[in-house]
Amino acid sequence: MRGLTRRTFLAGASAAAAGVTVGPWVLRSMAQGAPVKIGLVLPYTGVYAVLGESITQGMELVFARENWTVAGRKVEMIKEDDEMKPPVGIRKTEKLIDGDNVDILTGPVHSGILMGMRDKVHNSKTILIVSNAGADAISRERCSRWIFRTSFSNWQPNQPMGGWVAKNVAKDVFITAPNYQAGKDQLGAFKETFVPAGGKLVGEDYPKLGETDYAPYLTKIKQSGAKAVYAFFSGTDAVNFVKQYDDFGLKQSIKLTGAGFLTEPDVLPAQGKSALGVITGHFYTPQLDSPTNRKFVTDFKAKFNNKTPDGFACQGYDTAEVIVRALKAVSGNTRDKDRLVDAIAKVEFDSPRGRFRFDPKTHNVIQPFIYVREVKEVSGGLDNVPIDKIANVTDPGTGCTLPA
Ligand code: BEZ
Repeated sequence: MRGLTRRTFLAGASAAAAGVTVGPWVLRSMAQGAPVKIGLVLPYTGVYAVLGESITQGMELVFARENWTVAGRKVEMIKEDDEMKPPVGIRKTEKLIDGDNVDILTGPVHSGILMGMRDKVHNSKTILIVSNAGADAISRERCSRWIFRTSFSNWQPNQPMGGWVAKNVAKDVFITAPNYQAGKDQLGAFKETFVPAGGKLVGEDYPKLGETDYAPYLTKIKQSGAKAVYAFFSGTDAVNFVKQYDDFGLKQSIKLTGAGFLTEPDVLPAQGKSALGVITGHFYTPQLDSPTNRKFVTDFKAKFNNKTPDGFACQGYDTAEVIVRALKAVSGNTRDKDRLVDAIAKVEFDSPRGRFRFDPKTHNVIQPFIYVREVKEVSGGLDNVPIDKIANVTDPGTGCTLPA
């Protein structure tokens, strides 16, 4: 009888004793005393494995603070490795929804996997809180009442950077990113403001996701006449690109800039001095000087072997914080999904990144700031130091009616 309240158990038992068929409503209400099941579809292997690990740790920090119990219900995380492969991610999503009957789903990291999961989530009315994948379409034509995003749309960290780079770094720029949806979204957003600000694209290239030898691409960059490069790479791609860029001798002559993922603390130790001076745009840096962020950095380091939290850890933290606050608002009732969705939409709190709130039009987080950051030596090693910021960056998705 673990997980059932005495009242719901008796309701079911007396109905059965009276010869009444125990309907799904009784079974569902009996489940109310059971753990809240949260399914995670994340990469724990492959190019983005470090991202999956940071997101998970950020969530664990919050749930541990709550003693893994919210509104009287235990919290259970069911982790599935999507292996960075869309068919695997979709299969794991189906398993979590149909097999484990999760109350809330979170993840993924990879935009292609998010697009593949979208219809299953929407049609089954499963609440998904996207904790990384930035596919712009999810805040636009593929939005859903059942989908929220605590991380970013791919547009958000990049659109402000186009104008900034044209104004402050160079007009002749080569752009590059992995050849899949996130790469196309992110560079597309950069171009939106770069070209109108007088920027000239001298080249554009899309190596495969998981490329290990960037030499042919670096040769093209060298021959392009670029004065700067703008790049989106993450995980092991970011380590390889930034190190090879330096080894190839480009770092001194062609300024390297990009989306924040390029130099997050998950990859900075492996990049070492090759990352010094790289300029990127992102919604977070552990350098932010607020009480909430200082506590987050201290608690995260204490729990995870002195590891510095990155933006992905902040995304995991915010995802869990949203879940905790919404569950409390509905007194732990995950049965009434409409009420839970409305409670999630209303959540607001001080996050390590600043004031956290969702855009009601899209269910995508409004970024309090996109920080322009430069990798510098700080006490304790290298970090992304803010040098400028752009406030209230909201994805332009407007046509979304969040259909049920
Ligand atoms: C994406 O696929 O959406 C993504 C992956 C890594 C970092 C940022 C975005």
